[in-house]
Amino acid sequence: MTGWKPVFRAHAPARRLLYSGSLGSVSAQMPKTFFITTAIDYTNSPPHVGHAYEKVLADVITRYRRLKGDNVFFLTGVDQHGQKVQQSAAKAGIAPAEFVKETTQKFVDLWKKLDVQYDEWAETTSDRHKKVVQGILQRLFDEGQVYKDKQSGYYSVRQEQFLTDKERGSDGEFGPEWGEIEFREEENYYFKLSQHKEWLLKFLDNRADAVIPDFRQTELHNAAERITGDLCISRPKSRLDWGIELPFDKDFVTYVWFDALTNYISFAGYTAGEADSLPYNAQPSTFRDKWPALQIIGKDILVPAHGIYWLIMLHAIGFPNDQMPQLLVHGWWNIGGAKMSKSVGNIVDPFVLADKYGADALRYYLMRDITTGKDADFSEERLIERYNADLANSLGNLLNRTLNMAKRYRDGKINPKPKETALTPEQYEKIAEEIRAMGKIPVTTTFPSLSSLVEQAVRLYVGSADNYEVDRGLDVTSRFARFGNQIVDFAEPWSRFKDPNREATLDVVLYELAESLRIIAILISPVMPRAAHGIFDQLIWKMELSGKEERFSLADAEWGRLPDGHVVGKPVPLFPRIEG
Ligand code: MSP
Repeated sequence: MTGWKPVFRAHAPARRLLYSGSLGSVSAQMPKTFFITTAIDYTNSPPHVGHAYEKVLADVITRYRRLKGDNVFFLTGVDQHGQKVQQSAAKAGIAPAEFVKETTQKFVDLWKKLDVQYDEWAETTSDRHKKVVQGILQRLFDEGQVYKDKQSGYYSVRQEQFLTDKERGSDGEFGPEWGEIEFREEENYYFKLSQHKEWLLKFLDNRADAVIPDFRQTELHNAAERITGDLCISRPKSRLDWGIELPFDKDFVTYVWFDALTNYISFAGYTAGEADSLPYNAQPSTFRDKWPALQIIGKDILVPAHGIYWLIMLHAIGFPNDQMPQLLVHGWWNIGGAKMSKSVGNIVDPFVLADKYGADALRYYLMRDITTGKDADFSEERLIERYNADLANSLGNLLNRTLNMAKRYRDGKINPKPKETALTPEQYEKIAEEIRAMGKIPVTTTFPSLSSLVEQAVRLYVGSADNYEVDRGLDVTSRFARFGNQIVDFAEPWSRFKDPNREATLDVVLYELAESLRIIAILISPVMPRAAHGIFDQLIWKMELSGKEERFSLADAEWGRLPDGHVVGKPVPLFPRIEG
C-alpha cells in the first residue's frame, strides 16, 4: 500500500533485559510479548460481517506473528454495558444481565466457528474489570481530574448527548439524525480532558506512527486541535443503571468510554484499586511484559474515542509516552456504499456464510478483498469469484494435479533433491512475470531458478504482512500458486514420463511442485489455517504436529527443506468449486 511507513516502533520483537549481574554483562534476554487487541463489540445485537472482519484481521496478525516466532497475546471481547443494551433488553422483556449473556454467547460461538483464537476474553460486566474501572475513577477523582458539574442545554435523546451550536445545521436547527430534542438540566461528573490537549498534540507530533495508516494520524491530529471542553463520564442511575457505579457517588454509573476502553488494560493484568496511586512502573510484570498493545479498531471509533479519550486517559493515569499503544485503524465493509450496520438494517450474517462456504473461504474473502485501512463493498458473488479463481482453480488445482502425478508416475515418492531445474532459465523468467507484476523488483534482478523466485515471493509476502497489508500478502500467495500451475504447463510432466530421454527430469518437476506447495501452505496458514493443515496432511508432512499451530513456521518457508525420497499422500479436493 503506498504511503504507509514502516510501523515497527513498539512491536519489533523488543528485547528486555532480564538480568544484569554485577559484572555488567547481559545474562539472559527474553522477547517481549506482542500484544494485540480489538474493539469490544456491543452486545445489543448479534455479530455481523463487519465485526467478523475485525476479529479475523486480528487473528491473522496474531497467527502471522506466531509464524515469525513471536510470543503473542491476543485479547478480544464484548462491551456489555450502556444505554443501547439496556434498551434492547427492555424491548426483549428480559433483564440486561440475561440479555447480554445470550448475545455474548453468539459472539463466542462465531469466533469458534471462524477459528478466531484469542488468549483472553473481555467481558465488561466481570468483577475483575469493574475493580480496575472503579480504581481508576477513584484515583482521578482524588487527584481532582474528575469533578461534578451541572449542565443545561439541548439534549438528543437518541444520541444520548448534550448538543452545542456546532451540531446545528446551516438553517440553525438540529438535524433529524439527533432525533427528539429536549431541554435538560442535569448534574454529572466530568473528566478534565481539555487539560491534556497540549500533551496529546505534542505526543502526536513526536510519534509519527501512533496511528496507522498515516492519513488517520492526520485526521486525529486535526481533531485534537479542536478539543475544547471536558468529557462527561457519568449518567445518573435514574436514567441509566446498567453500568459500573461510580466509587465516589452511588447515584451514578460511568458512561460508555471509561468503562469500555479500560478493558484493554484490565484484562491484561493491570491493577488498580489496591493502592491509592499505582504508577505504571509498579504494575505487575505480567502486565508490563504485554503492554503497549497494537490496537485494531474501526475508523468510526478513532475520533474521539481511542485517539483522544483513550490516549488522554492513559496519560492521565501515568502511562509514559513510550507506553502509548499503537492504533491500527481499518475501514468498513459496506453494502452498496453504506456501512453495514444493524441500524441501517443491511447486515450480512457471518454464521450463514461460514455454514455455506466454510470458515477458511470466508476468512480468505474478508482478508483478500479489502485493503487494510480502506473501505470495501461486500458481495457474496465476489466471495464466490475469489474462491473459485484463487482457491479452487489455482491452489486446489495445483495440489490436486501435483499429488495425482506423483502418485501416477512415482507412486507418491518425491525423488532425491535434484541438482538441475525443471525449466529453462527463459521459462523461469516468464513465470517470474507473476511476481514482477507486483513492482518494487529491479529489472536487473533475474530469476534463473524456481528457488530464487520463491525466495523473492517470500520476501514480498513478509514485507506486506509486516505492514499489515494482508491483501497484498495474499496477492503474493495467489501468484505463487499460479506460477506453480505454469510450471506444470511448461514442463508437461506427462510427456516427460513417456520420453525415456527426459524421464529423469520428471523428478525435478515433481520436487519443485511439492516444495512449492509446502511453502504456500506455510504462507497461507495465518489466513486459512484449515487449508494449510489440509495441504500438509496431503503432503504427509509434519504429521506429529497435525492440527497444531506450531506446525507452521516462517523459518521453514525456505526452499529445499523437503527431504530426499519423501512420500506424499493421495489428493483429496481441498477447495471444491462453488457452482453459482
Ligand atoms: N463497543 C464499541 C467499541 C468499544 S472498544 C473499547 C463499539 N462496538 S461496535 O460493535 O459498534 O463495533 C465494534 C467494532 O466493529 C468497531 O471497531 C467497528 O468499527 C467495527 N465494525 C462495525 N461495523 C463495521 C463494518 N461494517 N465494517 C468493518 N468494521 C465495522 O463501537
